Amino acid sequence: MATATTAIEPNVKISATKLLINGQWVNSASGKTFPTINPSTGEVITQVAEADAPDVDKAVSAARTAFETGPWRKKLTASQRGNLMYKLADLLEKNADELAQLEALDNGKPYHVARAADVPLTIACYRYYAGWADKNQGKTIPVNGPYFTYTKHEPVGVAGQIIPWNFPLLMQAWKLAPALAAGCTVVLKPAEQTPLSALRVGELILEAGFPPGVVNILPGYGPTAGAAIARHMDVDKVAFTGSTEVGHLIMRAAADSNLKRVTLELGGKSPNIVFADADMDKAIEGAHFALFFNQGQCCCAGSRLFVEEKAYDEFVERSAVRAKKRTVGNPFDKNTEQGPQVDQDQFDKIMGYIDAGKKEKAKLVAGGNRVGDKGYFIEPTVFADVQDNMKIAQEEIFGPVMSILKFKDVSEVVERANKSLYGLAAAVWTKDITKAHAIADGVRAGTVWVNCYDVFDAGAPFGGFKQSGIGRELGEYGLSNYTEVKTVTIKI
Ligand code: NAI
Ligand code: MG
Repeated sequence: MATATTAIEPNVKISATKLLINGQWVNSASGKTFPTINPSTGEVITQVAEADAPDVDKAVSAARTAFETGPWRKKLTASQRGNLMYKLADLLEKNADELAQLEALDNGKPYHVARAADVPLTIACYRYYAGWADKNQGKTIPVNGPYFTYTKHEPVGVAGQIIPWNFPLLMQAWKLAPALAAGCTVVLKPAEQTPLSALRVGELILEAGFPPGVVNILPGYGPTAGAAIARHMDVDKVAFTGSTEVGHLIMRAAADSNLKRVTLELGGKSPNIVFADADMDKAIEGAHFALFFNQGQCCCAGSRLFVEEKAYDEFVERSAVRAKKRTVGNPFDKNTEQGPQVDQDQFDKIMGYIDAGKKEKAKLVAGGNRVGDKGYFIEPTVFADVQDNMKIAQEEIFGPVMSILKFKDVSEVVERANKSLYGLAAAVWTKDITKAHAIADGVRAGTVWVNCYDVFDAGAPFGGFKQSGIGRELGEYGLSNYTEVKTVTIKI
């Protein structure tokens, strides 16, 4: 564990713990609350109002009114909508320290990482989409006959958004920003593990001056509040990020209710492919980052690390050394690289996968145990000699567990990389542009990184092939998820 001397004391005041409905902070209809836990200690941080179906009804009705008759669409111009988003981004920037602290407290990620990555990426996302607010424009179409035909890009309506706990602030931005730029109104449910930063952003949304009902925020559980959003008859679109298992439920609920539009950003088992000609220092550090970043809790984690035979032994040895050096401990210590896993469930699930790796005779070369006896800390763990058919090579672990597999040549590794129900991301490390292209072309994945990993930009679309999801977030493509195209034809 990192020492106490380089740690800061969190001094954040938690002000928002209720539901945000129609511009007001309210208790849930049932009066129920639920605890949000500090994963570093397992202790309760605070109680938060727990939304369920009746609260979803209220929030959807507020969002509907705001959409149909409120100033959001009746009074504000597209550029004024963008200006509100810029204002929100400025407020996020002003409160960046506090937001990073909330993230570290509630999620367990290192404060200095949240401050340097999550928060600036969040702000950049709102600014990027603020710029789109008055640029989501249609076309004129040269049709046959005496007609003038044009298209308009209209907001899809009331958007229901369900987000996970691994990047609470950033996932909220990926959802809210394109929806607001398009002119939608929103009912958003943060993950039950990490409601605090989402609620703080709710306060800043009010401070920025968004009209009531445009953004409604409902902390609560998945099978109750989440499911009520997914099956709601008056929600026009649902956007979900989380497990593939729940992704199936969301799509079914949409089909069984009102055919609301569905976008899904789900799990992954992303191949990270290292050729022997790669810059080894960079590839080893890059592969370490690709897997262990955010305590391994990334949908796009490089969790199938394929290493070319010629470089394999050296790579395994040095990756184990690097993993053993990774500092695990207090998220408020600036020397900490890795905090706790988000909760007991995730901790147990990951420890289960470590057991499975041992049982299936993968070679444990680093870690494998719990760290300390309080909170949900796990040693950075590396398995070598992993085979394609092992559980740890097939299922999403979502934790600090690296699996290294050996390969011989390009066509073999492409085929093996694609033998997965997932297709979220992939990466290749090589100095040979031909090999880089062969991988970039060959892998069935929504994102391919060449000699880098986890490079995100609000302008670059992200999403999955296959069971990793439906649709893309970010960039111009992300905006289209919140847009309906209307064709207007006028007799001349
Ligand atoms: P989850 O998919 O259950 O939760 C994600 C969000 O969906 C949360 O807001 C949750 O409350 C909500 N939800 C859960 N059940 C729902 C339902 N029936 N209807 C509507 N909403 C529902 O994920 P969980 O349980 O937190 O983690 C399980 C696994 O999912 C992880 O171990 C990881 O493999 C994967 N996961 C993937 C993420 C990604 O970024 N793609 C993020 C979080 C988890
Ligand atoms: Mg769950």
